Amino acid sequence: MAGVDRRRAMGLMAGGTAALALPRPASAVPSREAFLWGAATAGHQVEGNNYAADMWLLEQVTPTVFKEPSGDACDSLHRWREDIAIVRRLGLNCYRFSVEWPRIEPAKGQFSQAYLDHYAAMVDHCRDQGLAPVVTFNHFTTPRWFAAAGGWEQPDAPQLFARYCERVARAMAGGISHALTFNEPNLALGGKWSATPMPPAAIAKMRACVAAAARASGSDRYSLLNAGDPEPMIPGVTAAHVAARAAIRAVRGDLPIGMSLAIPDNVPVGADSGIDRKRQEIYGPFFAVMDKDDFVGVQTYGRAWVGRDRDVPAPAGAVRLPGGGAWYPDAIGNVVRYAHEATGKPVLVTENGIDAADDTLRQRFIPSAVASVQAAVRDGVPVLGYIHWSLLDNFEWLSGYGPKFGLVAVDRTTFARSVKPSATLFGRIAQGQRG
Ligand code: BGC
Repeated sequence: MAGVDRRRAMGLMAGGTAALALPRPASAVPSREAFLWGAATAGHQVEGNNYAADMWLLEQVTPTVFKEPSGDACDSLHRWREDIAIVRRLGLNCYRFSVEWPRIEPAKGQFSQAYLDHYAAMVDHCRDQGLAPVVTFNHFTTPRWFAAAGGWEQPDAPQLFARYCERVARAMAGGISHALTFNEPNLALGGKWSATPMPPAAIAKMRACVAAAARASGSDRYSLLNAGDPEPMIPGVTAAHVAARAAIRAVRGDLPIGMSLAIPDNVPVGADSGIDRKRQEIYGPFFAVMDKDDFVGVQTYGRAWVGRDRDVPAPAGAVRLPGGGAWYPDAIGNVVRYAHEATGKPVLVTENGIDAADDTLRQRFIPSAVASVQAAVRDGVPVLGYIHWSLLDNFEWLSGYGPKFGLVAVDRTTFARSVKPSATLFGRIAQGQRG
């Protein structure tokens, strides 16, 4: 959407594959103490044809706020073994992916054993390949029936989510390394503080898109966390996290559980900066329910300069990327320190990356980002791992296939994967650190 920052819009929207290597013995799965070096994907963004998902319908209706539909995405629904093989060949020891609630419960109360088996096979295969599977139970998408019934605003939303999480846990919790209930449930709250508020015309189009999806669902509502006013939905989401954590723990008590929050490196501007208020509003409600979590997941894509009531533009002297964004690869180190200080929990970097068609930028980004995290570790911050976003160039929500966050390029027609030099570099760094 013209004039609207990609992540902001999402928030308001409320050579060829290398030959497969031989499997390693299961004993190579990293121990609990091992630092995780990983790459991440999310189901809707890579699998393709996720028909039962709320987002899929929003991509189809008129008007739509999506630049293009997700379509076949990276066809990872069928090519997931190839994706896992790449992660392994790079020398990483962790793969983060999501299970798709819309596939597992496409109609309310109807659970798909076949899809539970599918994701359980992914978990098992990761372990066979010596990779720790970090599994996200909700990466933005919910089933269409859930959105059409009121989403996180329905009174029984926490129980519905917990019931689904329990099914997933029963099918695969034994093999999961770390579980994330939610991915960035706080993203939409960031809109209020954005330096680039969404223009009224874009808001109107978003509303029209959501209304069209409600009509197409035969409902008077279509409620998604990232499409609309998030405030009334947050109590449902935070209660869902608590209920899901209990449901998963009831299946496997020693599985480390957390959730991931979108946190930029916030920097106060001026003596009256509202940084504390901003943090309280955007992270506070989530930190409050993470008291019994095992870790906090952080996802960082840069720095925010916080004025009195909202973020302000980057200072004139900021180093700029070709697309105009400011260049702060070391932002993640500061966020890791902040997240630990604010919660007292160990921190897992579940996403950090850069939208760069020019891979040389990513090759410069990764060493600085990793060094900033390692400096925090040296200063005593307990960091469980660094997971880069993303393994693949994938479907970037409203922006379609334009942005390039991937360590690996994907041919849009043949789905052939091409490992980029930044991926090889990242793998070397990871292996060098592991010795
Ligand atoms: C999300 C991803 C997204 C990435 C880059 C994060 O907000 O978790 O789904 O692709 O940022 O935009």
